[in-house]
Amino acid sequence: MTATLIDGKGIAKELRSALHDEVAKLTAGGVRVPGLAVVLVGDDPASQIYVRNKHRACADVGIKSFACTLPAAATQQELSKLIAELNANEEVDGILVQFPLPGGLDESKVVEEIDPSKDVDGFHPYNVGRLVQRIPYMCACTPHGVMTLLHRTLGKDLKGQNAVVVGASNIVGRPMALELLLAGCTVTVTHRFSKPQDQKALIKNADIVVVAVGKPKFLDGSLIKDGATVIDVGINRLEDGHLCGDVDFAEASKHAAYITPVPGGVGPMTIATLMENTVTAWKIHVGL
Ligand code: GUN
Repeated sequence: MTATLIDGKGIAKELRSALHDEVAKLTAGGVRVPGLAVVLVGDDPASQIYVRNKHRACADVGIKSFACTLPAAATQQELSKLIAELNANEEVDGILVQFPLPGGLDESKVVEEIDPSKDVDGFHPYNVGRLVQRIPYMCACTPHGVMTLLHRTLGKDLKGQNAVVVGASNIVGRPMALELLLAGCTVTVTHRFSKPQDQKALIKNADIVVVAVGKPKFLDGSLIKDGATVIDVGINRLEDGHLCGDVDFAEASKHAAYITPVPGGVGPMTIATLMENTVTAWKIHVGL
């Protein structure tokens, strides 16, 4: 079997275009424009690129973006003050604080200070708790983007599918497992403390495998069950400058029915879903 590529780039483009049309239609009718504040603390080069891409996506969709920057030496109090101002700003529908924050700043505290209705990252315990209780509100962008890819590839009904999530981070693995559970999958999460032989056996039996560990070619592609769907969340830069995922793509493609490429798979969906969340928050704030 040779896997079919899941075209995240194309699907993200369609999603952004649909959001653009929706925003254009509503704002032409007199509704104020949606707003997203993107907070960057310090000068980490990778974060600068991610933030720039978010501003570009906003421009593309018709969202007003607010660039909020603080120096690497900013204190927790200064960051709290900025979040409080953005919470109170009626032009701002979404607040995204780019992670990782410089050392010494408490990311959990920042997350908890964001108004849950502006938490377009879906990281606030209120929003995570809602997903746990099957009443989702704002959902974390990468896992929600993965769900969009799975539904577009496999159809609406994922009930009873055996899904394995490799990696248990707050940003991807945990909310991913909750999203898959909400969709009716039988979900297992493997992580750094899993026994390798257990992880192997679980993956060999999985219909859907989502890998988010941040290690190049971490997953042995020969473990993939024939006909499975493989979602590779990893974006790792190799020494030669090339990007590579967490999955041994060449080998996994021989077994999977569907697989996401890196780049061009999950990455573009994360930003498109951020735009989707911002438009959702905006519609709630303006009473639509
Ligand atoms: N850094 C890496 N991924 C993310 C994300 O999804 N949101 C934020 N705010 N920072 C990140």
